[in-house]
This record gives sequence, structure tokens and C-alpha cells, in this order.
Amino acid sequence: MTELIHTRAELASARAGASGRVAVVMTMGALHAGHRELMRTARESADFVIATVFVNPLQFGPSEDFDKYPRTLVADVEAARAEGVDVVFAPDRDEMYPGGTPQVTLAAGPMGEILEGASRPGHFSGMLTVVAKLLLLTGADVAYFGEKDFQQLALIRRMVRDLEIGTEIVGVPTVREPDGLALSSRNRYLSAGQRVAALALSHGLREGAAQSDAASVLEAAGKILADEPGVEVDYLALTDPLLGPAPASGPARLLVAARVGTTRLIDNVPVLLGEVG
Ligand code: PAJ
Repeated sequence: MTELIHTRAELASARAGASGRVAVVMTMGALHAGHRELMRTARESADFVIATVFVNPLQFGPSEDFDKYPRTLVADVEAARAEGVDVVFAPDRDEMYPGGTPQVTLAAGPMGEILEGASRPGHFSGMLTVVAKLLLLTGADVAYFGEKDFQQLALIRRMVRDLEIGTEIVGVPTVREPDGLALSSRNRYLSAGQRVAALALSHGLREGAAQSDAASVLEAAGKILADEPGVEVDYLALTDPLLGPAPASGPARLLVAARVGTTRLIDNVPVLLGEVG
């Protein structure tokens, strides 16, 4: 049975009744198969699974889509129920930030200023602040995050290490549509034509990842993105798995952000650089 709760008091009492390993899956709702994969993975390894649904105002810029961000709580609870989630915690803004907009927040540091951080000032500070609060409120032993938001995952890993937070952080590979498009709550903003154009992101990344040296990776991906007039690239970057400079050989990450119409999409894939075998 999945319980929908809205207050921190209800969360504390649900948490007090939970035994064994407690997992949390944090979301902003508008749940799709990517979110569900996190819940399924959590369900497999934990005794008690908490999903959170909260559109966090702190991580949206003034010209971003906070007001129009899809809110589909009834369907979200159904999705969580289908994945065997025990509790859905959906606080409102005052419940999450009872003192109003927080005065003390987390700083994401240098890793928060590159890539997404360069285009979205303050985003990662707001994200880390709510993630830290939700880790504390849920008291989870383990938390699941998608590789779809690769920089977010890297920053959360860094936060728990730097701040001695004991929660284990587990990354889950990106869930895609059969044609390659990474699932995202923002895909619903796309028109049919824009959705076709958006395929250039996953297609470009796939072609890039098939190359073995850094220059060819960026060239192959860049060409596919440049050939799609409906896509305006914000960045295309090849890094090491911790978002530092790409190595000459070994594991790397290819990341892209682009605007399709007014919708900003991100995607990334693993790349193995250098001669194999
Ligand atoms: P949201 O965009 O709702 O994503 C919630 C979680 O689902 C994140 O860990 C995200 O990486 C994961 N996710 C999204 N699309 C996915 C896909 N296609 N495959 C696998 N996982 C996917 O990310 C956030 O919310 C917020 O920043 C949050 C962490 C909840 C803090 O507010």
C-alpha cells in the first residue's frame, strides 16, 4: 500500500514505523519511466522506499519554467504505487521551507559553475540545498539518482563526501525512448516537429561515443547537432567521469545541452577513449 503524505510530521511517523534499509528517490513529479526505473531499483535493494515529489523553487532561475512545470500528483502516486513505493512525500513550499526562502544554502563550488551551472546560475546551489534537506528529513540509508542529470549526480556525490553525510548515493543509467530520446518531464513541452529535432542530441552523442579519440568524438557529435536547424547547442563537452578534463584514454563522459524551441534539454553518455584491447 502506498501512502501519500504532505507534512514532515507524517514523514517522521512513517519513518519511525519503517525497519531495515530505507531508500529515497527524489523527484519533481511528472513521473515517467526514468523515474520509475529509479523506484524499481530502490525497491529491489531496500526494505522501505520513500519517493519525494517537490518542484523546488530554489533551483529555478527567474526566467525558467517553475510556473509551467508539469504537476501531475494523482498520476505520480499511481506510478509510485505500481513500483511498490511505500510512501510518497509531497510537501508544499511552506512545509519544505517553513522559515520562508532559506538564508543559509549550500554552495556547489567550482563544479557547480561549469556546464549547466554556467547557463543556470544558482541552480545547483538550490538543488543541493533541497537534496540535503530531503536526505535529512527522510533519514535514508541510500538515495537513487539518474545519470541523465550527470552533473547533478556528480555534485550530490561530492556533497555527501565533503559534508560527511552518511547516505549511500547510487547512480542509475538513463532510460530512453526506443528511438534514443532520453526521457524527461520537459519532453512534453515539445511539438511533434521539435521532438524529431530533439533526436539530434541522443543521435549525436551516440555517434560521438563510437569514436575513440577526443577530437573525433567532439567532431562526430558536433556535426550531427549542427546539421539539425531545430537544435541550438548550449554546450557539447567531453570530460572525465568527475567532470574534469577528458583523459587521453579510459572512461570519459560526453555531455550536451541544447535548446529546442524554448525547451532546454540535456543528455550525456559514457565514452571509452583510446585504443581498446
Ligand atoms: P527530476 O528532474 O524530477 O528527476 C528526478 C530523478 O530522476 C533524478 O535523479 C533524475 O536524474 C532522474 N531521471 C530523470 N530522467 C531520467 C531518465 N530518463 N533516466 C533515468 N533517470 C532519470 O532531478 C530532479 O528532479 C531534481 O533536481 C531533484 C533531484 C528532485 C531535486 O529537486
